[in-house]
Amino acid sequence: MTIALKGRSLLSLEDMSPEEIRYLLTLAVELRAEKRAGTEKRRLTGKSIALIFEKDSTRTRTSFEVAAYDQGAHVTYLGPTGSQLGKKESVKDTARVLGRIYDAIEFRGSQQHHVEILAQFSGKPVYNGLTDEAHPTQVLADFMTIQAHTSAQPHETALVFMGDTHNNVARSLADGAMKLGADMRLCGPKSLWPDTATLERWRGIGLETGGRLMVSDDVNVAVKGADFVYTDVWLSMGEPTEQWAERIKLLSPYRVTSELMRTTGRPNAKFLHCLPAFHNLETGVGAEIGKQFGIDCMEVTDEVFESGASIVFDQSENRMHTIKALLIATLGG
Ligand code: CP
Ligand code: NVA
Repeated sequence: MTIALKGRSLLSLEDMSPEEIRYLLTLAVELRAEKRAGTEKRRLTGKSIALIFEKDSTRTRTSFEVAAYDQGAHVTYLGPTGSQLGKKESVKDTARVLGRIYDAIEFRGSQQHHVEILAQFSGKPVYNGLTDEAHPTQVLADFMTIQAHTSAQPHETALVFMGDTHNNVARSLADGAMKLGADMRLCGPKSLWPDTATLERWRGIGLETGGRLMVSDDVNVAVKGADFVYTDVWLSMGEPTEQWAERIKLLSPYRVTSELMRTTGRPNAKFLHCLPAFHNLETGVGAEIGKQFGIDCMEVTDEVFESGASIVFDQSENRMHTIKALLIATLGG
């Protein structure tokens, strides 16, 4: 089968077929090997990519920048301040301007609608670098990492996401897992479950790919047999900080602890997190929350985060290789 991704956008993993996702993951593994061997070829010479960040970022920004530079492309970073976007210029007008100047656009912001407008009106490939609904480039890196840590096929791989199961990362993870035919479990309080239509959509994909979906508020049921345990922050960027108290109360039973890792029954179970993580009090927000609520971590204990089971920094590195694969597949050649 020929995989033709040139000119394509990645607004959500819904946009990609299972074959296209697998193609990007394979290309990313090849690119990682090339970079490590010092034999990387430049496939994006002369291309220019605009990077719009309405929200903060470490991994996504640096991954796009280094991936582009490695391949001979140029980038312009447009941060939360400093451009006309959102103040004197609409997303639609910005799309038409950047579409005349750049070969592709990355967007991180709140609204999924905005990434769609950018794609519609720029006429160039647009990459979702995180919205409130989706974080597709994260999940490409997650599956690259999962594949590197198992010899099992996706349908033999059980992956559980703990905590805020309706956030952007959980949703994109479930998109990817169902497309790749994995055993996906979402575990958290009912009030934070994705809506029924989304669950039905995933189950529909699973019927075609062999993917299975469990949604449960019972930790023991959901983590039993899990090969990979994933979590994310309890309050995402842009959500009101007044919600911390409620989220901490709701989500504390879903914290990833050493006991929870043992409950999987899989001695080799691995821990994943998109990062940044509140695993100790060494951050401004973590210290403040710690003081206010008398806790020393949130979604994961420091013990699990620092354990041999933790593959979170592989995930971080793989952001760059998978984003590079995406840029080459959509812009190269
Ligand atoms: N995981 C992730 O997207 O990290 P950043 O917010 O640092 O980009
Ligand atoms: N759910 C998190 C992911 C950060 C990479 C957020 O949106 O803040």
